[in-house]
Amino acid sequence: MSLTLKFLLLLFLSHHVYSGTIVKFLPGFEGPLPFELETGYIGIGEEENIQVFYYFIKSEKNPKEDPLLLWLDGGPGCSSLGGLLFENGPLALKSEVYNGITPSLVSTTYSWTKVAEMANIIYLDQPVGAGFSYSRTPIGKTSDTIEVKRIHDFLQKYYLYFLIECWANDERVREALHVTKGTKGQWNRCNWTIPYDNDIISSVPYHANNSIRGYRSLIYRFEFFFFFLTIGLTFELTLLFNN
Ligand SMILES: *[C@@H]1O[C@H](CO)[C@@H](O)[C@H](O)[C@H]1NC(C)=O
Ligand SMILES: *[C@@H]1O[C@H](CO)[C@@H](O)[C@H](O)[C@H]1NC(C)=O
Repeated sequence: MSLTLKFLLLLFLSHHVYSGTIVKFLPGFEGPLPFELETGYIGIGEEENIQVFYYFIKSEKNPKEDPLLLWLDGGPGCSSLGGLLFENGPLALKSEVYNGITPSLVSTTYSWTKVAEMANIIYLDQPVGAGFSYSRTPIGKTSDTIEVKRIHDFLQKYYLYFLIECWANDERVREALHVTKGTKGQWNRCNWTIPYDNDIISSVPYHANNSIRGYRSLIYRFEFFFFFLTIGLTFELTLLFNN
């Protein structure tokens, strides 16, 4: 039996690799937000099991020139949403009786994104466990030095994601790639609004069939690798015994 080796490369892109989204409206605030807010998660480490949540607010003066400030609430363990809503952000909670509906938000006049030394601000929920940041696997004790490395990783990734958007939205780049003019406004790394039905619950039967036909599956996702390796081997052994 001549086994031509064919490889199938399957990319399982995990959710939340980068899911920065511009938020235009917030419950509790009337009308569209009068500033630019982006929220999202950035995966930390190689496996990206740690997902840190951030709020990015653009300077209302000159975001391209103004510095980028990283705001970390202390604790350790307090969400930076505290800093955003209680200390120096463009929104604050309205002090009123809570009657079960979403508490109201109001604009502030003192926000560091619009007064004095104006800045673009990232409010980061860290360490993981604080605010909306979470981990997909149990994590042990952390420390200042571990957190410094994680925050550094966050900043580097955040900057790379910023650069990829600059690159793909550059007219010269689009020309070089022969992208048809006028077909796309803003390029975003992920589009979460594509109507899409996840109607294949498991891809295993398809891989099994491919394996029977002599294709080998290379699964790019660590957790799945050994699983498919086992399946691949099982079918190859079956083939061996049947021939
Ligand atoms: C995302 O996909 C939807 C549906 O195809 C499309 O209408 C929209 O323009 C896309 N958004 C971007 C930013 O490309
Ligand atoms: C696998 O192959 C068999 C036989 O060709 C076919 O009946 C079955 O539908 C295939 N399964 C999938 C998931 O493609």
